[in-house]
Amino acid sequence: MDFIYDLLGRFHPLIVHLPIGFLLLGLMMMVFDRKENNHQKIIRFAFFWGTFSSLAAILTGTVQYAREGFLWEDIQGHMILGVFTFVFSFLIYLKLKGYLVLQKVSYRFLGYGLGFVLLITGHLGGNLTHGKDHLTAPLPVEIKEALGLEVPSKTLVLLPETYRELPLYSGIIQPIFDQKCVSCHNPKKTKGELLLHNLKGIMSGGEEGPIISTVNPEGSEILKRIYLPRDEKKHMPPKAKIQLTKAEIKLIDKWITEGVPENKTIADLGLSAALFTSFFPTDETGIYPDKLLEPVNKSLIDSLLAIGLQVAPIYKTSSLLKISAINTPDFDDQKSIVLLQLADHIVDLDLGQTQVTDAVFDVLKHFKHLTLLKLNRTAISGNGIKKLMSLKYLKQINLVNSKFEASHLEEMFAFPTLEKVYLFGTPTQIYSAEIPDQYQSIFEMGNYKLNDEVEEKL
Ligand code: HEC
Repeated sequence: MDFIYDLLGRFHPLIVHLPIGFLLLGLMMMVFDRKENNHQKIIRFAFFWGTFSSLAAILTGTVQYAREGFLWEDIQGHMILGVFTFVFSFLIYLKLKGYLVLQKVSYRFLGYGLGFVLLITGHLGGNLTHGKDHLTAPLPVEIKEALGLEVPSKTLVLLPETYRELPLYSGIIQPIFDQKCVSCHNPKKTKGELLLHNLKGIMSGGEEGPIISTVNPEGSEILKRIYLPRDEKKHMPPKAKIQLTKAEIKLIDKWITEGVPENKTIADLGLSAALFTSFFPTDETGIYPDKLLEPVNKSLIDSLLAIGLQVAPIYKTSSLLKISAINTPDFDDQKSIVLLQLADHIVDLDLGQTQVTDAVFDVLKHFKHLTLLKLNRTAISGNGIKKLMSLKYLKQINLVNSKFEASHLEEMFAFPTLEKVYLFGTPTQIYSAEIPDQYQSIFEMGNYKLNDEVEEKL
């Protein structure tokens, strides 16, 4: 039958809206009726139900606090003012009923008092469910700083080139604790008599003894706490606080099961890159494959730059490359062979307005991470395009104003990840009606010519 209580507690966020409604209505009616005084019955009705439902809110709220992982210090203001809301409402109701004891207390005092506690209780309650910064989060950082609000500290960011040299504990684990645990587990505020601000504290444990077991690491108290469901009272960090991410939990787990090494680096421990990728700066567009490759040799890139190609990483710390032949109009099939040396790294390739022909597909088919491909204004007719079928990331091909022929359209139907093919200004236009319905949205043909500017943007 225990679940009845849990259920009751969960109704709290719903029930709180009843007193808010009734009491606001009551207050508004009191103002509205202050001269004529002929709606007393309705006002009494509003305050009767307002009082009753605020009592229900207090009861369900108390159950929720007792059953779920809220801390007293987080909820105390909300709870105390909730009780005041009930008291003010009840007093107004009694006065409306004509209890003489209350004759001396003015409606004005009770009304303003109720309005005030109702507003603050509601606001604090909202903070509990939506987080303290719910209202202020959308403000720009400068305004937050001017208002003296807490600006969320940056989450851990690792660079793919250097993260392996970091000691697991001081480079990763302690920063995670600093962000999500130390506000409650530090020398000034030592919840559960536990310190998490340095290794000594962590190893000393809390009021219930060590939090890390060297004999049975998997059973360590700290791991139990972070794996508990968020609603459990003992879950850490407590429910209303910013939670650990899945990746952070995995790393803490790894550090403990590796025997809490103090100075060993990620390389020493031979940990897999997959554990860390979520901390790398990300490709915000999200279109490129999420791949981690060794950076390309600098001299190789220099040799490409020397022949006039543009070469750049897709974002600052990525080793995936965007290459464009826009400044080398004489680039051709023969020259494209140099690109094979970085076949795995090329994700975005622009060979538009160059001399390449269908023979270039024999080179392109090796670029297994190729995502965006531009072949606009080339002599490409499409003969051999099916060789690109094995490219598992290819999403867009731009063939605007090329010589692409309709007979090769069908070969692209089987491409696994193709999202768009731009074919304006090619001999394919008149066939657009013959493309099966399920592929219609992929092939953009139009029967008009694009101006150069639009063509460039595609
Ligand atoms: C909002 C404050 C707060 C934050 C943040 C917080 N804790 Fe706690 N923690 C507590 C309180 C209060 C207790 C004592 C009550 C209990 O045992 O649940 C506690 C107890 C613990 C204990 C048990 C100590 C013992 O021996 O009894 C562990 C382990 C723990 N916390 C780990 C963590 C970790 C790990 C984090 C960060 C991921 C964290 N806590 C974040 C408030 C917090």
